Amino acid sequence: MSFREFLETLSSTGQVTSISEKVDPHLEIAGLIDQLEEQPVLFHRIRGSGYPVAAGICSRRELIALGLDVPKEQLLFALAEALRNPVPPQMVGTGGSPAPCQEVVEKQVDLHTLPVLTHLPSDGGPYVTAGVAIVKDPELGRNMAFHRLMRLDERHFAVRLVEGRGTHTALQKAGGELEIAICIGNSVAVLLAAAMSPAPGVDELSIANALAPTPLVKCLTVSLEVPAEAEIVLEGRTTRQMVDEGPFLDLTETMDIVRRQPVVEVNCVTHRRDALYQALLPGGLEHKLLMGLPREPTIYEEVNKVCDCVNVLLTPGGASWLHGVVQIRKHSPDDGQCAIEAAFRGHTSLKHVLVVDEDVNIYDPAELEWAIATRFQADRDLAVFSDQPSSSLDPSARHVPGEKSRTAKMGLDATIPWRKPSGALRTEQERAAFRKVRYQAA
Ligand SMILES: Cc1cc2nc3c(=O)[nH]c(=O)nc-3n(C[C@H](O)[C@H](O)[C@H](O)COP(=O)(O)O)c2cc1C
Repeated sequence: MSFREFLETLSSTGQVTSISEKVDPHLEIAGLIDQLEEQPVLFHRIRGSGYPVAAGICSRRELIALGLDVPKEQLLFALAEALRNPVPPQMVGTGGSPAPCQEVVEKQVDLHTLPVLTHLPSDGGPYVTAGVAIVKDPELGRNMAFHRLMRLDERHFAVRLVEGRGTHTALQKAGGELEIAICIGNSVAVLLAAAMSPAPGVDELSIANALAPTPLVKCLTVSLEVPAEAEIVLEGRTTRQMVDEGPFLDLTETMDIVRRQPVVEVNCVTHRRDALYQALLPGGLEHKLLMGLPREPTIYEEVNKVCDCVNVLLTPGGASWLHGVVQIRKHSPDDGQCAIEAAFRGHTSLKHVLVVDEDVNIYDPAELEWAIATRFQADRDLAVFSDQPSSSLDPSARHVPGEKSRTAKMGLDATIPWRKPSGALRTEQERAAFRKVRYQAA
C-alpha cells in the first residue's frame, strides 16, 4: 500500500482529520499536528506551497499494523520474518508511462516550493523530517535510512548523519562525496525498513519489499533506485562542504546540539502530478514508534538465543529507544538474568530493561510496576553495568566529541523468583503464590 493508498484507507474509515483552511508551514502546522495528538491529518492548503501536507500515519501501533496488513499482535513477528528473509524488489521499466514518482520532472530546483516545516522558534531552520535517504556504499551496496534535512537555500540542505551508521560510513568510503536520493511520502513498509539497521550489506529496500511489494525505479540523474510509488524524490549528492546543523528537537524531546554536518545539493526533483508532502513531528509518537519498533525484533532474536522470549516492547516513556520490556517463558532460575544481557546485545542503545513473566500485560505500565513491586528484590535481581556504549540521544550520558557516548545500564529481573533466600528451588505450587488472583467474569 503506497503512502496515498494508506491515507485513503484511513480516510475511508474516518480516521483522517481534513483541514481545508490555509495553514502556515512556519510553526503553525507543527503546533496543529501536536494539538491533534498526531492523529492522521491532511492539510489541503498551505501558505507558500502547492503541496498538501499529511502527517501522523504511523503514530499508533494499530495504524502501522493496518499499513502492513498484519494484526497488531503479529507486528513483531512480521518484522522479524522480513529481517530474516529479505526479498529483492522488482524494477519497473522506464520505457512506458513514467513511474508515479517521476510523473513530473523539475530540473530547475527550488526547494522553497516544498512545504518544509519549521517546528519550533529555536530550530536551526525549516526541516524535512520524513525524508528517507538512499545511497550506495562502494563496498556494501544500497543503504536506506532516515536523515533530517535542514533547508539552507533553493538547492541545498544540511544533512544530519549519525556517525558510524550506513550513510555516514558509505560517505567516508566514497571519499566525501556521494550520490543521494531523498524520498518523501513513503509506504509504511519503506518507513519501517528505513529505520532498521540490519547486518552490513543487507538491503533495507529488500526488507521493505518483504513487508509489502515495493517496486523500484531508476533515478533520472543519479545511479540509484528509489520506491516507484514515493510522492516526491530529491536527486542530488552530498558535498564536502560542512555547515552548522541544528539546533533541533530530537527523540528524547530535548534539543539536540549544533554540529558541523555535510551539505546536500539537489539537482533534480521528481514527483507525482498531485504529490503529497509527508511531515513527521520530531520527538513525537510517530518518531518514537518508527525508531523503536524495528529494534523490538532484534532484541527478540537475541533473547531467544538464551531463553524462551515471548514478546518485547520499547516503551514510549523511554522514548521508545532507551527503555525496554522483555517478556519470557521461564524454564530455569537464571533465565531472567540471561535475558537482561541478551536484550542489551539486541539493541545497543538500550539503557534500562525490565524482564517479566508471560502472565504480565506488558502494554499496561501499572502491571509492569506491580511485577517490580511483588517479584523483584534490588539486592538480588538488579544488574548494573558501568561505562557502557550509549545512545547519542541521552542527555545524561557522557558525551565526548568524536567518541562513542558512554552510560551506565541497568536490568531488572521482575520474573517470579525460582530460588528461595536459602538458595533452594521453589516448587511449582510455591511459585504459583506469586500470581495475581483474578476475579471471575460475571
Ligand atoms: C523519524 C526518524 C528520524 C531519524 N533521523 C535521523 C537522522 O537525522 N540522522 C541519522 O543518522 N539517523 C536518523 N534516524 C535513524 C536512522 O534512520 C536509523 O538509525 C537507521 O536504522 C540507520 O540505518 P543504517 O544503520 O542502516 O544506516 C532517524 C530515524 C527515524 C525513525
